[in-house]
Amino acid sequence: MIRVCFVCLGNICRSPTAEGVMKKLVRDAGLEERIDIESAGTAAYHVGERPDPRSREEARRRGVALESRAQQFTAKDFARFDYVLAMDRENLADLSGLTDDTVHLERLTLLRRFEPGSTNDSSVPDPYYGGDDGFMRVFEICEAACRGLLEHIVEAHALGERSARS
Ligand code: 4NP
Repeated sequence: MIRVCFVCLGNICRSPTAEGVMKKLVRDAGLEERIDIESAGTAAYHVGERPDPRSREEARRRGVALESRAQQFTAKDFARFDYVLAMDRENLADLSGLTDDTVHLERLTLLRRFEPGSTNDSSVPDPYYGGDDGFMRVFEICEAACRGLLEHIVEAHALGERSARS
């Protein structure tokens, strides 16, 4: 099993959106027995909460259900995942601060590294204090980046998709 964790600050907007989008892509590719997906936050503010209603609504409109409960990412979680995908540079810095283990640090990168045409340092912008267009943008970025991430994983782990991607 290849284990993926998306990480943002609160684990109620960006990373649950990426989790929901990636789960759908993985299911559509027939790979749910091979790739396991979670999300977490660097902060504990919202632990136990469902995703923000604005994120849930945007995802629902596009046929994606967000079913996670917020959890905090801690140092020991690096051992549980093969890919730890940070949404922005602050998340990346907070996560790198949790460990000195180079094996664990190699699992950590920005999600948008996998988005075709995106540069290495681009972030998924935090929509929490903004309007609905921010949530739309987050969904679109997550969708493009997760498609790229899935292609990378399939190739890197020679998974070979069993059914056509939608
Ligand atoms: P997220 O958004 O990191 O995408 O889940 C936020 C959620 C909550 C807060 C900040 C960002 N907050 O400050 O409570």
